[in-house]
Amino acid sequence: MLEIAKRFHDLFGAAPEVLAAAPGRVNLIGEHIDYSDGFVLPFAISDTTVVALAKRPDDLIRIASMQKSSDIVEMHLQDLAPHKGESWARYALGVLWVLGVDSGVDLLIDGRVPLGAGLSSSAALECSIATAVNHAFNLGLSLPELARATQKAENDYVGVPCGIMDQSVSLMAQPGSALLLDCRDLSSENIPFLIAPQGLELLIIDTQAHHKLVDGGYAERRASCEKAVAELGISSLRDISVAQYAARQSELDPVTYIRGFHAVTEMKRVLDAVEALKSNNFTRLGELLNQSHRSLRDDYTVSCPELNLAVDTALEQGALGARMVGGGFGGSAIALMRTEQVKRCESAITKAFSEANFKAPRFFTSLPSAGAHVIPS
Ligand code: GLA
Repeated sequence: MLEIAKRFHDLFGAAPEVLAAAPGRVNLIGEHIDYSDGFVLPFAISDTTVVALAKRPDDLIRIASMQKSSDIVEMHLQDLAPHKGESWARYALGVLWVLGVDSGVDLLIDGRVPLGAGLSSSAALECSIATAVNHAFNLGLSLPELARATQKAENDYVGVPCGIMDQSVSLMAQPGSALLLDCRDLSSENIPFLIAPQGLELLIIDTQAHHKLVDGGYAERRASCEKAVAELGISSLRDISVAQYAARQSELDPVTYIRGFHAVTEMKRVLDAVEALKSNNFTRLGELLNQSHRSLRDDYTVSCPELNLAVDTALEQGALGARMVGGGFGGSAIALMRTEQVKRCESAITKAFSEANFKAPRFFTSLPSAGAHVIPS
């Protein structure tokens, strides 16, 4: 029996009805444009969060975590309502709230996506629970419906103004592919991302940095994009080309203009990256990753010294391209390089971080992996 099922039985005195898993993600390219209706190109990593769930005959909700053994969060169904606080359990409660479960549940969570690394451990948690609830309560929701629901849980219950990318890829990803997601209508295409046969690897560098700006900074960038849309009188930044946008520079204040400039150029880079992947042109892909990083660093200003040092060091070591991923102000960077460069690059980044008195970085690699699924019993 799986460890989580055994533990569930020990804690709650019965077997779980359903086990479901959902992965974290890395975004190849298309950063900070999901909330502007853009295209993004993330893939699921192999680390997942697994949840064990059983319905209860009453209205009690009990939530426990394999990682926090003493902590069982309890709440009655009728008390489910958005609330502030620090508890990780709000992500789980938010999903139960948004899906409108009609009985209590026991939930045990085994979160194996590294926390605080910008690899979407929160989306993995939300999507594993949504997948389990969809199955146990026979809700019949599609993957795009689950993506919208879990985003709403995070926006309205937890209070984080995230876009739709992380939940979508956690739910929809296919092994071996990156997910070209249209964030406007959630249609998607699987773009094969098999770099090992090309002698390449995508190194994920967790800088272990988490700067305080992260919460306010994200909302502020989002607000700038909304302001650009409102002032230009367009329906979204998706609906304007780079040239058209540049021609209207004088209509926007400098900060709003440059934030929107990141968005419109990044949208183009995603489509160019898909072309590069389809023609196995990894040199071009690397250039696009570099351009994306510069745009996030200089125009959108969501990078930080640790991310820049990781990227610069990887490039000095011969990486084809490197960039920060996720919301920024800390978290992880990715670097595309030849497999034989990986070890040397890791050592160089570790040394550079130590010389800069930064926390020691962590390194991961991951093949593009499967999206959320019920684990057969
Ligand atoms: C976070 C958010 C996503 C997305 C990225 C930046 O991961 O949760 O919705 O906006 O930042 O691309």
